[in-house]
Formats: sequence, structure tokens, C-alpha cells
Amino acid sequence: MRLVKLLANLGYGSRKEMQTAIRHGWVTDREGNRLKADARTAHEDILFDDEPLDPAQGVVLLLNKPLGYTCSTKDQGRLVYDLLPDRFRVRKPVLSTIGRLDKETSGALLFTDDGTFLHRVISPKSEVPKVYEVTLDRPLKGDEGILFASGEMMLESEVKPLKPADLEVLDDTHVRLTLHEGRYHQVRRMFAATGNHVTALIRSHIGGLGLTGLDEGEWRLLSDADKDAIFSAPAASGQ
Ligand code: URA
Repeated sequence: MRLVKLLANLGYGSRKEMQTAIRHGWVTDREGNRLKADARTAHEDILFDDEPLDPAQGVVLLLNKPLGYTCSTKDQGRLVYDLLPDRFRVRKPVLSTIGRLDKETSGALLFTDDGTFLHRVISPKSEVPKVYEVTLDRPLKGDEGILFASGEMMLESEVKPLKPADLEVLDDTHVRLTLHEGRYHQVRRMFAATGNHVTALIRSHIGGLGLTGLDEGEWRLLSDADKDAIFSAPAASGQ
């Protein structure tokens, strides 16, 4: 891809601005040689303003989403994109979230600009499990695990029963719930249907990928091994 287009797609500026940047010598290789617009230098060897370029297309990243951030590019208030470098909001192809978390849910949230990867993660065929740590307003009644695992639970205004979900009871107001699908506000609606109310919700794992090493608001690019972990089962303890 031509250098001007590459830089513009990565969000460094408009094509016109990138022509100017190249003309001013702000785009170099690692030896400090100024690059021309038709340079065929490898992505990892290009520097913009002495800094390595943002990653090439095919990005998958994991954010530990804090409470109060919306999964949108343009809603009012704080957005998950505010936690990433500014350029990531305007990259082409777009960097989208893989699924969503509610504004008042925290935890593991994936982003990618790779449509094939996105569809693989959200495809019902992949059955990527998602693990949630849930705090409840009232003590469990005791039969929630059986109901959630039944494969027959219907949520209000839906026509298809929920897939079986696994409930691990930690104490009478704290549970770990593993879902094998992702419906709108699913965890909150499941507990609401049992007469309870979720007061805190954290997604700890997507498949076998957890949040280890990431504080709230932090993100990291995923390696191939991390990406593979998404399609493996979460550890039984939720760790
Ligand atoms: N279930 C919910 O209710 N909210 C989320 O953010 C994710 C799953």
C-alpha cells in the first residue's frame, strides 16, 4: 500500500497532511533515512516522528473496561475509545468492539479491525464461553443453577430459550456465571427473571482469555497465543 494511504488509514492525518509529512521528512526508516511516497519499506521499519507506526491491519486488543464507559464511537459521555490512543478511533478499517458490555459492566472487552476474526468470535458455532463475576442484591433462592442450566429458560419478549449456562455459587450473593451466547443485557435479565437484581457485573474471561496483568482502563495487543486462548475453555476456577 502506498505510504500516504497507509498513514492516512492508520489515522495519522488526511492524505494531504501525510503528503506534507513525507515532504517534511517526518516519515523515516529505522536508520533515519527519509521515506518517499512510493517507498516499499516494511511496516515495522517505518517511523513517524521518530516513533514506530501503530500496528498494521489485523489488530486484536483486550481492554479491561472500567464502569461508566459506553461501547460506542459517538454516544455522549465517556466512551471505551477514550481509553485507547486517539488514532485508534479513526483507523480504517474501523476498530470495532467484539460484542458489547453495558455502561455499568466492567471487565474483558475485545476490539478488532479484522472482520473475519470478529465473526469467528461472535459466531454461535464457535460457542466462545464468557465468564461473569456477579454480585447480587439479595441472597440466591437455591434453584437458579438448575433453571440456568436447563436450556429452557425464556427471557421476556424472546422467542427462543436460553442456551444452558453454568452457575458457580461463591456465596449467597456472589456467583460466577458462564454463558455460551450473548443476548442483550443477558446476565441482568436472567437474574431479574428470578426476582433478584445484579448490583455489580464483571466479565472476567472470554473463552480462556482472562484479564491477568491488566488494571482497569488498561489494554494490550493480543498475541497469536492470546487469540488461540479465546477459543479454549476458561480454567475451571475462573482464574
Ligand atoms: N450481561 C449483561 O447483563 N450485561 C453485560 O454487559 C454483559 C452481559
